[in-house]
Amino acid sequence: MTDHPSSLQPLRVGVVGLGYAGRTHLESYLQLPDAHVIALADPDPERLSSLGKIHDIPHLYQDHQEILTREDLDAVSVCTPNHLHAPVAIAALERGRHVLCEKPLARSGPEAEAIVQTAIQAGRVLKVAFNHRARADVAALKHYIETGGLGHIYYAKAYWLRRSGIPGLGSWFTNKEMAGGGPLIDLGVHVLDMALYLLGEPQALMVSAAIYAELGPRGRGGSRADKMMVGSDYQVEDLASAFIRLAGGTTLTLETSWATYRRANDEFGVTLYGNEGGAEIRVVNYVREDTLRIYTDVAGLPTELAPQLPRGDGYGHSQVVREFVDTVRSGDWSAHVGRDGLARARIIDACYASALQGREVLLCDLVSASQT
Ligand SMILES: NC(=O)c1ccc[n+]([C@@H]2O[C@H](COP(=O)([O-])OP(=O)(O)OC[C@H]3O[C@@H](n4cnc5c(N)ncnc54)[C@H](O)[C@@H]3O)[C@@H](O)[C@H]2O)c1
Repeated sequence: MTDHPSSLQPLRVGVVGLGYAGRTHLESYLQLPDAHVIALADPDPERLSSLGKIHDIPHLYQDHQEILTREDLDAVSVCTPNHLHAPVAIAALERGRHVLCEKPLARSGPEAEAIVQTAIQAGRVLKVAFNHRARADVAALKHYIETGGLGHIYYAKAYWLRRSGIPGLGSWFTNKEMAGGGPLIDLGVHVLDMALYLLGEPQALMVSAAIYAELGPRGRGGSRADKMMVGSDYQVEDLASAFIRLAGGTTLTLETSWATYRRANDEFGVTLYGNEGGAEIRVVNYVREDTLRIYTDVAGLPTELAPQLPRGDGYGHSQVVREFVDTVRSGDWSAHVGRDGLARARIIDACYASALQGREVLLCDLVSASQT
């Protein structure tokens, strides 16, 4: 592993964890001529050998610690269940590998902080796979906001709601120790990321949140998702709602559920209200087209714009992987140490703390308490 990989050498990559996320990373790397997946790791022997065979990957490991001992790896994608993000990412960074970590960066702010600090000390890239930020609707809206189209944005809503979308009753997702939380940390982190990115990364100051577990513990709301089953009982929330005060006075509501009695199966989006215009991204059942609306005045008349967006690759993973490879190959690494992932983890910590305590929580109190 050299400090500045030659632009002639493809990046040598290992993928750790081969569920939905790992397979998506693998397929994204395989599209790139300047990345070469040389190793895979997953404790599931059938999954490991079949993916290795299909894609002709030479080095296969059932133990994630073994893949990290390879001297020839430049970068690692961490696509394991959440409780393994920190140990795998930290071990990889300490060995000088660059890391693309699935969301959430970690189960908690302090865990995320430990990964970010390791990336800084190691002088390596740490990116979090916030793939929905790479969507074409988000990119178009970001551009519109930057040209002043919405003016001052004072209120925002971010939501991801499912009717029956618990990712496998009994899977690791429903185990508090392994997942860190329920839909808030799983889906909420995506739309929180979309909103904060569109708003220009304002600091979160205060959170008031509530969480509920009404359907999951009664065996309702499960989906047929193919997830790693661990026989867990239902230990996390199935719905969360939060009110977040941001620096500059903007407020953000965040609403997320895996299971709740509502209409559509799966719907997520972000709504922004500015003093020159408003905007909505609304994605129902993962539809790819016609997801962005902009509201403004034309000649003093209320006007609705429906930008014609490029279809893109769907959920943005291939762009995230492309950007990660480009960043590593650029040699310009110091700005890419996962700070966005840490900021989201701290807000989610504050949401859980607020829900537990039944009161508003100041982010600065929470961060200083975790540092003492
Ligand atoms: N960005 C997205 O859109 C997106 C979508 C799905 C999942 N994710 C994230 O990806 C991660 C994995 O989720 P998933 O849906 O792929 O889960 P999954 O249950 O489908 O797959 C997890 C995989 O990790 C493997 N694994 C378990 N322990 C391991 C270890 N010690 N070393 C290596 N592999 C190990 C399992 O055998 C399984 O193959 C989670 O952090 C999740 O939040 C992100």
